[in-house]
Amino acid sequence: MRAIAGSEPLDVTDLPEPEPAPGEVIVDVTAAGVNRADILQAAGNYPPPPGASDVLGLEVSGTISAIGDDVSGWSIGDEVCALLAGGGYAEKVAVPAPQLMPVPRGIDLVSAAALPEVACTVMSNVVLTAHLSPGELFLVHGGSSGIGTHAIQLAHALGARVAVTARNQDKLDRCRDLGADILIDYSTQEFEQIIAAEGGADVILDIIGAKYLARNVIALATGGRLVIIGMQGGVKAELNIAALMSKRAAIVGTTLRARPVVGPGSKAMIVAETIARTWPLVASGDVRPVIDSVFDLADAGAAHDRLNSGEAVGKVLLTI
Ligand SMILES: NC(=O)c1ccc[n+]([C@@H]2O[C@H](COP(=O)([O-])OP(=O)(O)OC[C@H]3O[C@@H](n4cnc5c(N)ncnc54)[C@H](OP(=O)(O)O)[C@@H]3O)[C@@H](O)[C@H]2O)c1
Repeated sequence: MRAIAGSEPLDVTDLPEPEPAPGEVIVDVTAAGVNRADILQAAGNYPPPPGASDVLGLEVSGTISAIGDDVSGWSIGDEVCALLAGGGYAEKVAVPAPQLMPVPRGIDLVSAAALPEVACTVMSNVVLTAHLSPGELFLVHGGSSGIGTHAIQLAHALGARVAVTARNQDKLDRCRDLGADILIDYSTQEFEQIIAAEGGADVILDIIGAKYLARNVIALATGGRLVIIGMQGGVKAELNIAALMSKRAAIVGTTLRARPVVGPGSKAMIVAETIARTWPLVASGDVRPVIDSVFDLADAGAAHDRLNSGEAVGKVLLTI
């Protein structure tokens, strides 16, 4: 089968077809989502977790073509999307059954590849970890990213007030169209001052890490929850513990890829919650996949360049 192995250059190579192990199905891939982790992995900076495929790709949509032992509830021919630990940039991928999701009603099969990673990441961090509630103020950094465009819509649908940061007015306009209420141009404005003047953020979803730690703590409301899911601004920073204590605030960091398939804190649990809580909002049109661009598998390098360009709004996809 044609696939893109784990490192640059991103040439299509011929690899043996995967066989379904017990508990797995084979998905014939229609489309795969491109994620920052794929770019880091291709550059040699983010090795796949032990046991995961070397092939790039953390999410796909497609059709089930084979089913291993000990799998129930799925049939050959079912159209699905799926969260992966790797292997999505390929014609076929083996998927643990608990990481399969039905295609939400009203969504075409290519667009469905834009959902698993953002929907599961936002569900696990914003809802299951930070418990965002109606009426609360939610700040998401990088509002025009794949994660950001989904987080705006979900938080808005949950009844939160949504604040975003982005680099320019064009991107902020797109965020407003998705439901953002407070638009902050991080290249000219101090987000922590604007958010503090609004009473502070009850929940912050942060993708910057070290560079924003002190400023995020200033931006938090009393009882606020800061969830860090990215480290684009570095991994080490000083923390003012007195400021954190006086706000009775919490800081949590998480990853999705390295979580166990089943059990406490697992992908299975997050996938089930995403299907139960987010998929109805997708079916009703309150939360839509936001797709920046679609490339052929053979143009994966151009797809990575697009995500790296800083111009993308929403998800970049590959069709297989
Ligand atoms: N831990 C996890 O489980 C997990 C899972 C998925 C994704 N992530 C992380 O989530 C982030 C978003 O990923 P993605 O694939 O959706 O898109 P992406 O292309 O990696 O998005 C990068 C985003 O960073 C924003 N950004 C850069 N510098 C910024 C700054 N100083 N202040 C505010 N925003 C800034 C960019 O906004 P502008 O274009 O406006 O500059 C852009 O929206 C990545 O860091 C990724 O690693 C984590």
